[in-house]
Amino acid sequence: MNKGSILIIDDEPLMRVSMVDALTAVGYEVREASNGLEGLERLQGMFYDLVITDLRMPGADGLKIVKTCKDHSPQTEVIVITAHGSVDTAVEAMKGGAYDFITKPFSMDELLLSVDRVCAMVDLRKENRILRDELEHKFSFQGIVGKNNRMREVLEKIKLVASTDATVLIMGESGTGKELLANAIHMNSPRRQHSLVKVSCAALPETLLEAELFGHEKGAFTGALRQRRGRFELANQGTLFLDEIGDVSPVVQVKLLRVLQERQFERVGGNETIEVDVRLVCATQKDLRKEVEKGQFREDLFYRLNVVPVHVPPLRERREDILFIADHFLETMAVRNHLEIKQLSRQAREVLFRYSFPGNVRELENTVERAVALTQQSSEIHVWDLCGQSRCPYNGGEPQPGCGFCSDLKGSKGTGRASMETLALAREQFEKNHIFEILQRTGWSRTTASKILGLSRKGLWEKCKRYGITRPGEAGVAREEDE
Ligand SMILES: Nc1ncnc2c1ncn2[C@@H]1O[C@H](COP(=O)(O)OP(=O)(O)OP(=O)(O)O)[C@@H](O)[C@H]1O
Ligand SMILES: [Mg+2]
Repeated sequence: MNKGSILIIDDEPLMRVSMVDALTAVGYEVREASNGLEGLERLQGMFYDLVITDLRMPGADGLKIVKTCKDHSPQTEVIVITAHGSVDTAVEAMKGGAYDFITKPFSMDELLLSVDRVCAMVDLRKENRILRDELEHKFSFQGIVGKNNRMREVLEKIKLVASTDATVLIMGESGTGKELLANAIHMNSPRRQHSLVKVSCAALPETLLEAELFGHEKGAFTGALRQRRGRFELANQGTLFLDEIGDVSPVVQVKLLRVLQERQFERVGGNETIEVDVRLVCATQKDLRKEVEKGQFREDLFYRLNVVPVHVPPLRERREDILFIADHFLETMAVRNHLEIKQLSRQAREVLFRYSFPGNVRELENTVERAVALTQQSSEIHVWDLCGQSRCPYNGGEPQPGCGFCSDLKGSKGTGRASMETLALAREQFEKNHIFEILQRTGWSRTTASKILGLSRKGLWEKCKRYGITRPGEAGVAREEDE
């Protein structure tokens, strides 16, 4: 069985041959290169899951190998072999994207352990990718991506009611996807051949909104030079999307109530009663029930609008969607621009996952779009690209005031240097990130994660406790027996 493809680059023949033999014996497909330049050549010709490279070599050194791999084949992981004492270079290699390092002298068992771990992770990633393609298909509807249970329920509800004429009230914070849901309702309704007309009720003052919605007769008010049909008429046989319905004035509320009850209205300044066949979808960031309690919104209108209520959860309450949607944006942006799909670095994924996203999916979309634009040369997106800066504490720069992505980095005070100065700290940081990622990839199954990590469940629990790793949404470190 082929467990994975590996390229070994080392100029010490004895060391190289020992590694090739040990890894071939346990089922890896291994190629070798006897110096850095030959290694670079081999990298051009074939895809490797893993590259094991010595750091100090004539020609191209290990750092160059790491950089080439990360630039040209970010899916390939790199383990660097460091001589005892070359701490600085090892740290540099890790910062450059090496996955792990082994210090000489090491036993073949030690090497195998490290290689098995990396390849298990690579395997998991491949599986995840295939799964994700399948999931993407399964967990999307009209470009709305989400695998969170509450989001699935929202989408199921939307699918169900789309074909009816029921009025839908979509409630959620800014940027959660309310308009996208309104589009989906219309596009899946029998009305899709007709117009979907949108009005932002918050954008217009009362009198203008009234005229906008219901139209006006010639001379109805100063400046009404000719008769104009309103949005209700324009949406006849189609769907009318009233955004920010919570901001509508009492006068317009009365008129809306009448249209909903009788399907009739008059243009501003007119007597002719106009009948329309319109399906209404409304959205609001406000809690309409509270507005009713405060006397700001008519109760009778609220009940007319709230026939099918849809609550869209904020992104911070559906964290499993953050990276899923981010990957979706990366793919769609790449396809749109005919470019290679960029990947988020491990740290960037962690940072995104932890961020609270007050601007919800819109903020995530803008962040990803900006990061893609900033990483034209590289196929990997780093934390500093998310920050929109060339430097942030994650690459030794200063924290950017107000930047939610880099400001929570421990040790980012003072000089702003990330806590990667010593090898011990670098190892810890790496270990913490790696454990977090594996837990995330295994859906927080401590049993599976501990197997992949080569730890006992108790060992994993202790590490989680030490690094303060908790499952997002869980208050404390899970108990050892928790699954
Ligand atoms: N689940 C999702 N999958 C993919 N894209 C999404 C999703 N949710 C939102 N988006 C995208 O995020 C952006 C914001 O969504 P949208 O405009 O629908 O939000 P909204 O709730 O109407 O915001 P606002 O209240 O500020 O008007 C859009 O570009 C939309 O395509
Ligand atoms: Mg909107």
